[in-house]
Amino acid sequence: MTHDSLRQSLCEHLAWWGFKHFSSDRDYFAWQRQRLSSEDLKRLAFHAEQKRRGDRHDEIMFYDLAAHPKIRPVLYSQRYEYYEEIGVRATAHLSQAKDVLDFGCGIGVLTTFYARLFPEKNFVGVDRSSASIAVARERTDKLGLRNLRFECVDVEVEPLSGSYDLVVATHALVQAEQDLGLPSRSWRTFERGHNLSQQRSFEERTGLAVRLDGLCRIMNSSGRIIVSEKTRQLARRVPLQRALANRGLQLAERPIMIRYRTVEEVVDDGPFYVLDRGGEATLNWDEEPEQDQGPLFNPDAVSMSAGDVDVPLYENHWPSAQAAWEGLKDRQVIRETTRQASDGRQVHAERGSSRGRHYLYCANTFDQRQLVIVEEARSAMLDEYYQEIIRELP
Ligand SMILES: C[S@@+](CC[C@H](N)C(=O)[O-])C[C@H]1O[C@@H](n2cnc3c(N)ncnc32)[C@H](O)[C@@H]1O
Repeated sequence: MTHDSLRQSLCEHLAWWGFKHFSSDRDYFAWQRQRLSSEDLKRLAFHAEQKRRGDRHDEIMFYDLAAHPKIRPVLYSQRYEYYEEIGVRATAHLSQAKDVLDFGCGIGVLTTFYARLFPEKNFVGVDRSSASIAVARERTDKLGLRNLRFECVDVEVEPLSGSYDLVVATHALVQAEQDLGLPSRSWRTFERGHNLSQQRSFEERTGLAVRLDGLCRIMNSSGRIIVSEKTRQLARRVPLQRALANRGLQLAERPIMIRYRTVEEVVDDGPFYVLDRGGEATLNWDEEPEQDQGPLFNPDAVSMSAGDVDVPLYENHWPSAQAAWEGLKDRQVIRETTRQASDGRQVHAERGSSRGRHYLYCANTFDQRQLVIVEEARSAMLDEYYQEIIRELP
């Protein structure tokens, strides 16, 4: 099957599920208003908030509600492009497998797609939301699929059974989006120390340890696992990667960053990992920040005076601002502050000068960087920013 025809059949599958693709948020919301009452929307917003703040019961209640026939198409249509991105990529790895587990399969949107494409392979979908599993089973019956079954299991409570040569876990291992992850060793570096208790704490509070250990137990000794989570930020990416590596999982191919559109935002997600168990490790884990869009700093190309009074001579709000700051010649610090917040975050703010220009640099241990450079005549502006930042520091 070519890439285009695969995408086409995935779109037909999503249409069969009743999901719609919207390229305009306005059209989506107009459709949402036709389908859901304001009471429905309030209920949904309430449970989404409970899920964000609460425990496993709140999460299960949210997914049970999401499976409701009225809510389902509206909510899951928001994930249309996500399904396209993940579905097409994961399918490329199914042909080498025989027994496949889709962990945290939800209502089985992608599981049913995989099973339709590969009738000669065996698929099992597992999820802890009983309403989601009921929908998945009903849809499987409608499709007449004989190579797919679903189990309602919470791996935090009971073990998984069976033996699989491929496990797919997409948006199911580290969903605690509010968890910032692992801070760097200090504001000066993006490097994470090897602090076992910090790593363990991340794995435990996000539920990653128990889920991953459960999956490793049912994978064949030469099994493969596909993982894609909301772990694009370095602080979340590093502990996920270390959790995978510590369990003997190795990169089978270079991870790919995922980007797709949902309602009201473009989501930078992933990476999409394909991992093997055992064998020789041929690819290294990348713990560096991603290449970013921050402009390079070339002191000779930056003028000594303002063109537009509202625009600094140089401005970079990306991790690459650190390299620009390190490269400032004859850097003289005028004032600086470093503070430690209760969440473990260390924040640094610095006002200084470099060869006649003035700068403000801010950095923290969750990889945020900011460098602004102006000429001498506008340096008071940086003093004001600096004071503002200091006032807001913990
Ligand atoms: C964001 S949804 C993703 C669903 C599906 N994988 C997809 O990509 O559309 C996460 C799913 O993982 C399930 N899940 C989370 N923790 C689980 C656990 N400990 N055991 C079983 N299922 C779990 C949730 O119930 C939910 O349906």
